Amino acid sequence: MPAVVVVGGQWGDEGKGRIVDLLARKARVVARYSAGNNAGHTIVNELGEFKLHLVPAGIFYTEKTCVIGNGVAIDPEVLLGEISQLESRGIDTSKLAVSARAQVVMPWHRLIDRLDEERRGADAIGTTGKGIGPCFTDKVARRGIRIVDLLEPEDLLARMRAVVDYQNAVITGVYGGEPIDFDECFEQYQEFGQRLRPFVADTQALVVEALHSGEYVLLEGAQGSLLDLDHGTYEYVTSSVPSSTAGGATLGVGIGPTDVQRAIGVFKSYCTRVGNGPFPTELFGEMADKLRDHGKEFGRGEYGTTTGRPRRIGWLDTVAARYSVGFNGLSALALTRLDVLDGLPALKLCTAYEIDGEMVKTMPASPSALRRAKPVYEELPGWSEPTSGVRNFDDLPAEAQVYIRRVESLLGVPVDLISVGPEREQAIIVNPIF
Ligand code: GDP
Ligand code: IMO
Ligand code: MG
Repeated sequence: MPAVVVVGGQWGDEGKGRIVDLLARKARVVARYSAGNNAGHTIVNELGEFKLHLVPAGIFYTEKTCVIGNGVAIDPEVLLGEISQLESRGIDTSKLAVSARAQVVMPWHRLIDRLDEERRGADAIGTTGKGIGPCFTDKVARRGIRIVDLLEPEDLLARMRAVVDYQNAVITGVYGGEPIDFDECFEQYQEFGQRLRPFVADTQALVVEALHSGEYVLLEGAQGSLLDLDHGTYEYVTSSVPSSTAGGATLGVGIGPTDVQRAIGVFKSYCTRVGNGPFPTELFGEMADKLRDHGKEFGRGEYGTTTGRPRRIGWLDTVAARYSVGFNGLSALALTRLDVLDGLPALKLCTAYEIDGEMVKTMPASPSALRRAKPVYEELPGWSEPTSGVRNFDDLPAEAQVYIRRVESLLGVPVDLISVGPEREQAIIVNPIF
């Protein structure tokens, strides 16, 4: 059986966790393949409301194996905290398997993340401050520490000896920061290794074995494709290697491209972005506040799951979305938060950009061109009826059906799933994904 990738199509927080929680029902293995605890996935199901940063969203099904793949950057303290929180709420984490090859987020990564943002001042990326960029930088520079190193004190000592002097020279020399205390750090990470040991496994073999025995493997994306190093709005992107796009999924768990049958793109019915960087359809004022604060009284407004920052809001940008459909090779869309649009008199879809008097329908590489881009909108009528109770496409208000069909035709991909609320069952299955 094949693997199915669930990937964020925009700038993150599209509702990937919520969609994976729904689709995991049919899978044998649910695996995270990239990023780290810069991700924050909110899941609401019959067991309660959960915010996951590293543990895959399949964890609520006791019989599923949940893999944290080799492509993930793991902060051991965060992972151990997440495991104990889940356990304290009665969620069984014994089927969690952590790749021995995954990179470890070390204290210098968090520190350099913060110091580098301060140094950039007005040009800051607006990172989550979790050390993820510096961790992947070290991975590529062959200076990284991996989970397997934490399990062997001798190896950890040797790896740390090779990198801590270098990192302290950077911290003190480049940034004027306080150096890392070697002994304290060594003790702490050795202990993390012992506590993580029961979860560490050959996750690549586990995923391949599931595929060979005819089981579905669901690959859970983190972040959004437009934050990708190659295809995103560089330099306002994240540094995950492998990439958070569908293409990164195979590398991040250790399978090949022919193992992947489908790539499902999760898109919000509008757009959001946290952190800095170009955002052509960004809205300000009353309309932005209205969309951001929908559900705020229940703690469900557009505020970051990881950092609590207010998310920037915009109309659905089909230029950016079409680009994302292309480089992810998406076969279907899952459209989320449709209910947030209930009650708006009219909706706008961005179908092109006007840049320096020219109509542009493809994504410009230049950040300054993107900043100058004026969105060209198509206006569609809104609907007044609530959609959160709807479970069949034909029962949606006619205007909502028109909106969704227009999105499909602009993007050239079918909307197979529509989410009309944060809870697992608040969904319309238009075409079964499995
Ligand atoms: P992720 O990072 O892609 O998993 O997304 P987040 O969890 O960070 O952000 C999505 C937010 O939208 C979460 O608070 C979800 O509970 C919520 N959500 C997901 N789908 C829907 C939906 O269809 N309607 C509403 N109202 N909320 C949703
Ligand atoms: P999920 O999985 C939204 C953004 C940050 C910042 C940029 C770089 O919940 O969709 P980083 O800390 O990664 O170096 O920050 O990327 N970012 C996200 N935005 N959702 C996420 O994850 C994100 N992960 C990173 O806000 O702009
Ligand atoms: Mg999120």
